[in-house]
Amino acid sequence: MHDRFLRACRREPTDVTPVWFMRQAGRYMREYRELRARYGMLELCRTPELALEVTLQPLRLGVDAAILFADILLPLEPMGAPFAFSADDGPVVHRPVQGPADVERLRVCEPEEDLGYVLEAVRLIRRELGGKTPLVGFAGGPFTLASYLVEGGRSSSFARTKAMMWQEPELFDLLLGKVGEVVRRFLRAQVAAGAQAVQLFDSWVGALCTTDYRRHVLAHSRAVLHDLAQTGVPVIHFGVGTSHLLEAQCEAGGTVIGVDWRLPLDVAWQRIGHNRAIQGNLDPLLLCAPPELAAEGAREVLRRAAGRPGHVFNLGHGIVPETPESTVQAVVDAVHAGLTAP
Ligand code: CP3
Repeated sequence: MHDRFLRACRREPTDVTPVWFMRQAGRYMREYRELRARYGMLELCRTPELALEVTLQPLRLGVDAAILFADILLPLEPMGAPFAFSADDGPVVHRPVQGPADVERLRVCEPEEDLGYVLEAVRLIRRELGGKTPLVGFAGGPFTLASYLVEGGRSSSFARTKAMMWQEPELFDLLLGKVGEVVRRFLRAQVAAGAQAVQLFDSWVGALCTTDYRRHVLAHSRAVLHDLAQTGVPVIHFGVGTSHLLEAQCEAGGTVIGVDWRLPLDVAWQRIGHNRAIQGNLDPLLLCAPPELAAEGAREVLRRAAGRPGHVFNLGHGIVPETPESTVQAVVDAVHAGLTAP
């Protein structure tokens, strides 16, 4: 059954629980590493035929959704903030956003003109998949994307981002407004190109306390999520370390709320409310444990979901590169076998 992922997003009953993985295409796969030996990460993203090839690679594991191969940072360049992926430090934005002049300069770009290669990849993937596996498009959340602009790369403290948020709240608001509008247009364009669901990755928003999230971020995420809801495709709203923010994230919106592994799924679902679908929530590092432990962890998540319609199985965050592919396969099979298996 090829629509079990979309059915679960709409809280309709399914034959078995649908499963896909964040970062299901990537370095843990031999075929991906072989392609990456020949092409840079950005080259893969910018060449629709290659993005198509990478998107399809994990489908032979039997996952129930494909996720577009791209990156949340791609809109930064047409916004006027070019970046590179460095081998050791992850992404590096060449000129981080520091003051009013930098925010003023940021362009609210047009996805069809500036990110046409991503939309072309969406169209190619849809043509290839037809009515089979559904395709998930995505973008970064306004806070998460803005944090890369301000920090200039990865950060554990988000010191510069928080400094701007507290000391120059109007500037921060202008920044999130611009980033949010880019994200809204980009997701709209992905849906128009054929994405059948979209996920907003607000990966780092868990760094904020509830008060700051509500005061400085919620309205910007809501503007994106509510606009996308008008398209009729399911919208997955995801963050890491957001156990304290679940109610506020629900207020911001999302057909499906993505949760990490820190709360048991039943507790998180209770907090979210059973009138909404949930995605998660196996600890990604469990995929580096012996396969029978990973499969048992998957069954524990299924027990917590208790057969209630509206559960999309996923990890609590992306697959790590060290993961053996055979364990990913074992988890797909365990989820599809359900709780009747030994
Ligand atoms: O999930 C998928 O399979 C789709 C593709 C995808 C990638 N990045 C490919 C990628 C998606 C959905 C993302 C989202 C993304 N990118 C997020 C949000 C999700 C999360 O993980 O929290 C963030 C924060 C980024 C930014 C980013 N991209 C970082 C910090 C890095 C470097 C760290 C790392 O893992 O190497 C990337 C690079 C990146 N994006 C890779 C892949 C497969 C690795 C690139 C490589 O091959 O070297």
